[in-house]
Amino acid sequence: MPESQQSTLAVAQLFGLSGKTALVTGGSSGLGLIMAETLLRAGVRVVIASRKQDKCDEALARLQPLGDCQALAADVTQPADRQRLHDFLQQQFADAGLSILVNNAGANWGAVIEDYPDEAFAKVMNTNVNAVFSLTRELLPLLSRAASAQDPARVINIGSMDGLQVPIVQRVPTFAYSASKAALHHLTRTLAVDLGPRHMTVNAVAPGFFQSRMTDHVLREFGDDIAADSPMGRAGQPEEIAGVLVYLASRAGAYTNGAVIPVDGGTHVSKGSRPWMADV
Ligand SMILES: NC(=O)c1ccc[n+]([C@@H]2O[C@H](COP(=O)([O-])OP(=O)(O)OC[C@H]3O[C@@H](n4cnc5c(N)ncnc54)[C@H](OP(=O)(O)O)[C@@H]3O)[C@@H](O)[C@H]2O)c1
Repeated sequence: MPESQQSTLAVAQLFGLSGKTALVTGGSSGLGLIMAETLLRAGVRVVIASRKQDKCDEALARLQPLGDCQALAADVTQPADRQRLHDFLQQQFADAGLSILVNNAGANWGAVIEDYPDEAFAKVMNTNVNAVFSLTRELLPLLSRAASAQDPARVINIGSMDGLQVPIVQRVPTFAYSASKAALHHLTRTLAVDLGPRHMTVNAVAPGFFQSRMTDHVLREFGDDIAADSPMGRAGQPEEIAGVLVYLASRAGAYTNGAVIPVDGGTHVSKGSRPWMADV
């Protein structure tokens, strides 16, 4: 290797992930699938987990040619399923432990307040907050095994721009989703303080709109409004979620802890753009 690439400040050293291990919950579609693919392409051994076996199989067919990828059908809100997931990871990564936990599985529900069921509110909170806490706690021994002062284990929670500001663009209120993502952002900070001394970082990414099953309808119906809402004038692209993941998982991100990083083109800062600047 040329001397220029051996420096700790060389880009390959800063952002390399080869040899690490990862779990991506909800890795069978949307942002989770993008992140699983990114990690595999970087030489990470990856396990994905989501509820439906057929979606896991479909994702595996796409991911396995890219590297060492396994899937387990598991519902992160179910204690028995989380135990199976723990045991599966223990078996897959017995040597290395778990370097990267991406808590990405998420649920949403939209309805006007009079029609918003308690059950839906509870399900969204349970998936987006409670399950993240429980799974992280249950995987601590595996994360610990991969953690060191120089190279901490990483917990990366997928929050949302909706946890930073109240969304209106989709025309239907998402009470539980917004509340759950705000809670997840603060849970991230709380965990970061607790786990930092144990050589684990905990950060959250707060994406704006990206194409996925969850946002398909909204982007189709209100794509122009979403673009107009953003200083960048568009939704996010896969590489733009991949980039922040690589940063948080790599040497470059090892001292970033308790951060909530918006990846939304600046929508959380200001609605819309300055059209008179577009031609400058
Ligand atoms: N796309 C965006 O614009 C956007 C913006 C902000 C935040 N996010 C967040 O990004 C994350 C991924 O969402 P997405 O947009 O990629 O949506 P998506 O395509 O619908 O993906 C959601 C994934 O989570 C899995 N899942 C749902 N509930 C689960 C459970 N209880 N246990 C295990 N897996 C479960 C789904 O698979 P199964 O159905 O097989 O379980 C699926 O793989 C979510 O946390 C979402 O809130 C997305």
